[in-house]
Amino acid sequence: MTHTLSVIGTGYLGAVHAACMTQMGHTVVAVDTDADKVAGLAAGRAPLFEPGLDELLAATLATGRLTFTTDVSAVADCDVHFICVGTPQRRGEYAADTRYVFAALEAIAPHLRAGSLVVGKSTVPVGTAHALTELLRELTGRRLAGAAARLAWNPEFLREGFAIKDTMSPDRLVYGVEGDAKEADIALLDEVYAVPLAAGTPRLVVDLPTAELVKVAANAFLATKISFINAMAEVCEAAGADVVHLADAIGMDDRIGRKFLGAGIGFGGGCLPKDIRAFMARAGELGADQALTFLREVDAINDRRRVRMVDMAREQCGGTLRHKRVAVLGAAFKPDSDDVRNSPALDIAAAAQQAGATVVIHDPKAIPAARLARPTLTYAEAVEDALTGADVVLHLTEWSDYRDLDPARLTALVASPSIIDGRNSLDPAVWRAAGWVYRALGRPHA
Ligand code: UGA
Repeated sequence: MTHTLSVIGTGYLGAVHAACMTQMGHTVVAVDTDADKVAGLAAGRAPLFEPGLDELLAATLATGRLTFTTDVSAVADCDVHFICVGTPQRRGEYAADTRYVFAALEAIAPHLRAGSLVVGKSTVPVGTAHALTELLRELTGRRLAGAAARLAWNPEFLREGFAIKDTMSPDRLVYGVEGDAKEADIALLDEVYAVPLAAGTPRLVVDLPTAELVKVAANAFLATKISFINAMAEVCEAAGADVVHLADAIGMDDRIGRKFLGAGIGFGGGCLPKDIRAFMARAGELGADQALTFLREVDAINDRRRVRMVDMAREQCGGTLRHKRVAVLGAAFKPDSDDVRNSPALDIAAAAQQAGATVVIHDPKAIPAARLARPTLTYAEAVEDALTGADVVLHLTEWSDYRDLDPARLTALVASPSIIDGRNSLDPAVWRAAGWVYRALGRPHA
């Protein structure tokens, strides 16, 4: 059975969720307070670069079942409401700012009809769902007496670059449900997710705090795995060992697995860094701070990789970056994304500039976003323009475009054929054979 759903917030998560829910057969009203974003989405323009999203928006808008609006009263016809607004890090603090989640609930509350289900998808500190349940009761209890509106938590695990696949066929669905009507909530969510469930997606039913924790625990584990291999990279550098071979070997153990053992300049983006900090802050509030002190180290290892990359660039330039030209390949926090939030690449580029270098950055998709975030850096539309005259090339986001470069052809452009692979994803043998000095984090300097 299909439903009429609302999606509140049309950022990364909401825009993808709205389009995918329409693709699954539902009718979707997506609401955002940002009129420009809504106008763009209504015209089929995604607010960000995500492979396949423009095409999916065009196809789903054409069904007539997907609308974007700034008018929150349009949610009145819906029986399920997904809250997909952001929870950024608070300025000057580790904690997450949940004000948009509460504001979203307050905005839809007057329009909720009897028996409707509000489903939180935003990443929130554990305990938020209980507070929202209280607020929902306060706001709608009297009006909807007899058939109260209810709240469930259904975290999302989509990765940028794979967001559509992760929504259409996720690894798992998690439903956090509580209260007398929880069987009805489960049945309703099963109808909403009928397509992935029919395809065999496992689903777990848990309580509200567990559902909230599943999300942050997963991201904390992923961040820890990355920082673990980056810590090994530090040891490898000191011992003259090779972290890529080490990762290959330990990754063959089924219990460990090779995924997320990519050593390099570490994690960035709008999720992992903010989520581990918010998790530490929340654990502190709950009196369980000791349980998560290791995440401080995870964060510190991650930050150190950026510093190490700049130091290595300095070494390659003969001890100083002053008056040197540095070419930076990549600005996005990861490939197939134009997201530059907490991007290690941009941080490193800015630090090299601060150290006196002339830095020129190339990225296949993220230059407009990077220009907004770091207007004082210099950007090049063509890789060749970034490389011309470079004393050192820093490979910082592993776009496939860079793997496809022909190093032999590039030697004529640079001042010195010297490259540092911050993502351990180029083939050292190919670059060295073409006459380049190739260095990487955690690998021997041949
Ligand atoms: C992450 C999680 O992977 C998703 O499951 C989650 O839903 C999402 O956050 C979220 O909370 O919304 P995402 O931020 O898109 O997804 O990026 P990841 O693929 O996790 O990569 C994060 C960072 O780690 C990137 O900067 C990437 O370059 C880096 N990374 C990843 C490594 O340095 N090494 C690796 O081996 C893997």
